[in-house]
Amino acid sequence: MITIIGSGKVGGDAALFSALKKLDDQILLLDVAKGLPQGEAIDINHMLSEQGIDVEVKGSNDFADMKGSNIVVVVAGSGRKPGMTRMDLLKINASVVKSVVENIKKYADNSIIIPVTNPLDPMAFVTYKTSGFERSRVFGMGGMLDLSRFKQFIHEATGYSRNSISALVIGEHGENMLPLPRFSSISGIPLPSLLPKEKLDELVLNTKQVAAKVIELKGATVHAPGNAISSIVESVVRDRKQVIPIATYLDGEYGHSDVTIGVPAVIGKSGVEKIIELELNDEERKIFEKGIESVKGAISGIKI
Ligand code: LAC
Repeated sequence: MITIIGSGKVGGDAALFSALKKLDDQILLLDVAKGLPQGEAIDINHMLSEQGIDVEVKGSNDFADMKGSNIVVVVAGSGRKPGMTRMDLLKINASVVKSVVENIKKYADNSIIIPVTNPLDPMAFVTYKTSGFERSRVFGMGGMLDLSRFKQFIHEATGYSRNSISALVIGEHGENMLPLPRFSSISGIPLPSLLPKEKLDELVLNTKQVAAKVIELKGATVHAPGNAISSIVESVVRDRKQVIPIATYLDGEYGHSDVTIGVPAVIGKSGVEKIIELELNDEERKIFEKGIESVKGAISGIKI
């Protein structure tokens, strides 16, 4: 069973996409808000019925119902308001994530946990430390969402099919995110050979800033995160061994330890199966290091 804790817009969308992809027979939406997960589940089940998809979505306020889940997505917590950074949510969401993970330990201690709550990288660290799980079973969704935006900007800049575009974004899911044109391509053709540097710089900046723009326009980002969550879950449940940028705990990789940040990793049925270390150039490394410092600074202020 897949459990999604936090049944707001993103959690509901993650459940909807996961059900449409038939990622499990049962999907549980959990939330402390009375009625919200139940209403979300009923609404999604109506859609599934019309489509003839026999995936059962349940809604509950009882954490005990997640018993036996093999994957638990953590979306619980506050979302940012217009003008806020993801890091502004640190204090309020750290306590929420800690209490949620305590319940996951109690009811689903064999599960893979996928944190989504912002600020993502520090929340993935809180999840890892609070759970006591081996690090392969705790990895946050951040870079997958960022790369979906980077891909859209590449698509808009080139007019080429989205299907031909491969893009990579690592580092902090935040102000210091690191879109990587050198590791992005169009049908294997390296992006830097197709677009001039100033254009690439523009696409990188747009990728960093677009989430805040969506929040200004519609109040929250919903479908892109919901989809990104379901794509990561799919690589686990189908043992796809996709290479996906996820926020995971480093133990020497990229020259760092005891910190959680977005890096490319092979994702399969047991979670993080391998972390892939890229040869970053000086400019890329500088931004990556800024992300590390930002996350280390954030986690130093959290009591775990
Ligand atoms: C975003 C949030 C989920 O980037 O961090 O949309």
